[in-house]
Amino acid sequence: MESDERIITSNTRDEDYQTESGLRPKYLNHYIGQDKIKEKLKIFIEAAVARGEALDHVLLYGPPGLGKTTLSNIIANEMNVNIRITSGPAIERPGDLAAILTNLSENDVLFIDEIHRLNRTVEEILYPAMEDYALDIIIGKGPSARSIRLDLCRFTLIGATTRAGLLTSPLRDRFGVICKLELYNIQQLTDIVKRSANILGVDIEEEGAVEIASRSRGTPRIANRLLKRIRDFAEVRADGRITKSVAKEALALLEIDELGLDNVDKKVIQVIIDNFNGGPVGIDTLAASTGEEKNTIEDVYEPYLLQIGFINRTPRGRIVSERAYKHFNIPYKKE
Ligand SMILES: Nc1ncnc2c1ncn2[C@@H]1O[C@H](COP(=O)(O)OP(=O)(O)OP(=O)(O)O)[C@@H](O)[C@H]1O
Ligand SMILES: [Mg+2]
Repeated sequence: MESDERIITSNTRDEDYQTESGLRPKYLNHYIGQDKIKEKLKIFIEAAVARGEALDHVLLYGPPGLGKTTLSNIIANEMNVNIRITSGPAIERPGDLAAILTNLSENDVLFIDEIHRLNRTVEEILYPAMEDYALDIIIGKGPSARSIRLDLCRFTLIGATTRAGLLTSPLRDRFGVICKLELYNIQQLTDIVKRSANILGVDIEEEGAVEIASRSRGTPRIANRLLKRIRDFAEVRADGRITKSVAKEALALLEIDELGLDNVDKKVIQVIIDNFNGGPVGIDTLAASTGEEKNTIEDVYEPYLLQIGFINRTPRGRIVSERAYKHFNIPYKKE
């Protein structure tokens, strides 16, 4: 199964584009959860604003759909500056980045999504830009070539990535503020569902919201997507109101179980049990035997399976826990 066909993928699906922008909180106070990050950012932003300076460079990392893009836009709003949005793979040549950098105004935010995918020659332009707000440009060729330094406006680079470990250390070291986004708990997701329902004009009961939150794999993007699907169901099969039982029925139809797991998760667990006697199994072997990409397993499936304690990570590989056997009704017969 192609992972992005899943209703519970944390990656963006086509259907998300129309509504995501409308559901994005614009200010820190409306951003639910991630309290430590918010507290830290509030202080740094307030200090930078008071001094009239650019905020220090910020690195945001964590699984897809947890709010990195949202947070970047919020930072620009709170700083009251412009944001220029691009991504690692979109910047092909050093000249592309130089053009972007020279067009920034004082204290602007440059957001580079998937920053781990920048190519090396482009990345090297970033070092002096981040450190000294300068560009080193080579003019001419051969023996008469000389390097000149071009001053840039002070700016804030916000980099987003699913895994900070994929960044080179010279790049990582140049970020003053590093924030790891965590999966959300059910209370926070319930608040997110209620907030989104309010914006979309959907009638939802507290218990309906809790039901959706419990099956959203700790991920706001999934919570919002499920809400929209269940709204459709409620309109067609009920009177439009999302109650606990309407939510349960709709989620059963979508084949998402009480923990937000679907048959892809089940397959991964089942492969570890059937082929590797429950583990430990290395990530490469697991990818090969499930036919899923290694990165997809690590970024998309695993964080949630780890959080709910279905998989444990050991130096020798992944192990399925007894809890997972129970959940999928598989007899546990390990010593
Ligand atoms: N803390 C939050 N409070 C309310 N809504 C949120 C929060 N975080 C994320 N969302 C919602 O979840 C959706 C996905 O968030 P966002 O696009 O920022 O994720 P992302 O981390 O950038 O994902 P990706 O890694 O795929 O780029 C947004 O549309 C937003 O409405
Ligand atoms: Mg994003």
